[in-house]
Amino acid sequence: MSIRPEEYHSAEVFARERERVFGSRLFAGSAWRFDGPDAYRAYLAGNHALVTRKAGDRFHTLDNVCLHRGNLIHPLGYGEKPLRCGYHAWQYAPDGALSHAPLADPACIARKQLQSYPTAELRGLLFADLSGRAPALEAARRVLDRIGFDLDAGARPFRCHSVEHRANWKLLVENVTEAYHVSFLHGPSFVSQGYASAGGYEWGAEGDCSWHVMHAKEGLDARVRRLIPQSHREFTHAFVYPNLFVAVTSGLIAYIGHFLPTSAGTTLLETELYETPLLMRQKDAIREHFKAAAGPFSALVIEEDRVQLESSQLGLPYARGPHQLVPAEARVGHFQKTYREAMDAV
Ligand code: FES
Ligand SMILES: [Fe+2]
Repeated sequence: MSIRPEEYHSAEVFARERERVFGSRLFAGSAWRFDGPDAYRAYLAGNHALVTRKAGDRFHTLDNVCLHRGNLIHPLGYGEKPLRCGYHAWQYAPDGALSHAPLADPACIARKQLQSYPTAELRGLLFADLSGRAPALEAARRVLDRIGFDLDAGARPFRCHSVEHRANWKLLVENVTEAYHVSFLHGPSFVSQGYASAGGYEWGAEGDCSWHVMHAKEGLDARVRRLIPQSHREFTHAFVYPNLFVAVTSGLIAYIGHFLPTSAGTTLLETELYETPLLMRQKDAIREHFKAAAGPFSALVIEEDRVQLESSQLGLPYARGPHQLVPAEARVGHFQKTYREAMDAV
């Protein structure tokens, strides 16, 4: 049931993943990104060039490819523009219907509707389903509940950051779904905060999603507890298959990390940090203190992991067999099983 070494770098496998893994429900972006008039996100996912937008209180995910001559309607990334192609100005309604083609007789145009994909919001997180079904969100809801993730309506991140990884996307998933490496890789970050590979750890799965809780050593938290008695010494983490990570530190800082593979060997990770409702209720000076510490901490953890993942990417073509997972990596095993089922389904 495990993932074979060549599946971390093969272009053929990546082509199959685009259909099998990234061709149905996936994370499409944080809802706040679409609040501005004409705000959009244009991105490549599965076998699709997509754009997600909001009209009124509805989110729309559409093909981002012009019906005229196949131009990308919006350049890749985030922006604010009407849904109008830059080449010959064909214009589209929010639901993807062609609304205007300058200097053209509409009777001569056969295809007038951009393909659209069901899109739904869960706690400020947007999911699209490229298979055309309504996005299945029950497992995601349960793992978010389990890790205590919730944000105030209207919450905005205080830090956004993108990191290119020269590593296959599955290495990112496997890395964040175990705490085995914490003592050996995260000395300056997690270990200094009281977390360890052999520390308290629980995990569980809900359908294709999973979660874990890491408990920090007691004793380092006296000052935090004095400032915010309801905070705790836990790092909780959820994986919403296939491309979303959500984490909460001490009940104070929420992290949203999502990725899209850009090739078999490269992955773009985008991250956002938020104050939780608990932190938002504190005095300004306390909020600022925790926010100022959270940004560099998160960047350090991601950098420590990135260097290691890129090393794994270099090693895997020479591996003589699949990973040999130990019991502490059972959550990685759950991901591998989910992946195998998606890839091998007939
Ligand atoms: S390609 Fe879009 S209007 Fe011509
Ligand atoms: Fe890590």
